Amino acid sequence: MIRVESLVKKFQYRNKNNKIVWRTAVDGLTLDIRQGEVFGLLGPNGAGKTTTIRMLTMLTEPTSGEIFYDNTPIRGHEQEMKQLIGVVPQHINFDQDLTVGENLELHARLHHMGRVERHRRIEELLAYVELADLVNANVRELSGGMKRRLLIARALIHHPRILFLDEPTVALDPQVRRRIWELIRQLAREQVTVLLTTHYIEEAETLCERVAILNKGRLIGLDTPQAFCEQMGRYTVEWDAVDAREYRFFDTRREAADFMAELGGSASIRRSNLEDVFIELTGRREGL
Ligand SMILES: Nc1ncnc2c1ncn2[C@@H]1O[C@H](COP(=O)(O)OP(=O)(O)OP(=O)(O)O)[C@@H](O)[C@H]1O
Ligand SMILES: [Mg+2]
Repeated sequence: MIRVESLVKKFQYRNKNNKIVWRTAVDGLTLDIRQGEVFGLLGPNGAGKTTTIRMLTMLTEPTSGEIFYDNTPIRGHEQEMKQLIGVVPQHINFDQDLTVGENLELHARLHHMGRVERHRRIEELLAYVELADLVNANVRELSGGMKRRLLIARALIHHPRILFLDEPTVALDPQVRRRIWELIRQLAREQVTVLLTTHYIEEAETLCERVAILNKGRLIGLDTPQAFCEQMGRYTVEWDAVDAREYRFFDTRREAADFMAELGGSASIRRSNLEDVFIELTGRREGL
């Protein structure tokens, strides 16, 4: 469905001596995403997730490399390819002077939807994200969580076959987050391909069939959450050392228990999770 080959993005910027230097945000990324798959892109701040999504959604021109949708290069076919995709950006970018309904209406018009279809779809989507009562409210009156839900409705207006979500559930309360997860699952059941980025590793673990881990613009791992955990060791022993929390991974509970016995003190044993993998691979704990 989506194929990315040797994708590179370099940005030019001025350093503190006012000299122009280059920063490589994405460094030779190659991936394949299947139709109907929920695919996660993880990585620490500055890893290159948003830059990747911006290139995949034709908002930023790659420095080199190629992107294909259904084996067709997107370069040179931008207009038709934009009809296939919906984008939920990392930063909220509504027209703040318009109402909820007007923002959706504007987007539907950009996608050349007819009047009757537009109205039907807006009504359907506002019900879907539970904002129907706020159709005439000004966007600036919405809470952060409501704005995120509206971003999703906007991205879905033209029935995209691929949905890109850049940190869709940041700062949402647990209930709204779960509701958005349910929405994403439902889209996947309808064969919409979903690519999302998140710093909530649990979110990737529950939603994504496969995840790619980026670090400093490079792909450092790509697998299913289960396979990642098995490769690292299914059991984790963690304990407080002098200046930090320590982790060791084991293939069997038996080995983990033996190690814990040797360690004594207040260690604990549990199943490994994707967050452990993330820390091992990137050397960073998310959310701290
Ligand atoms: N327009 C730009 N000009 C210069 N450098 C940029 C630009 N956009 C991004 N970068 C740099 O590219 C790198 C990757 O940024 P990007 O926003 O893709 O990271 P990210 O993985 O989305 O991070 P976060 O988790 O913080 O959202 C960073 O070093 C960033 O400073
Ligand atoms: Mg980002």
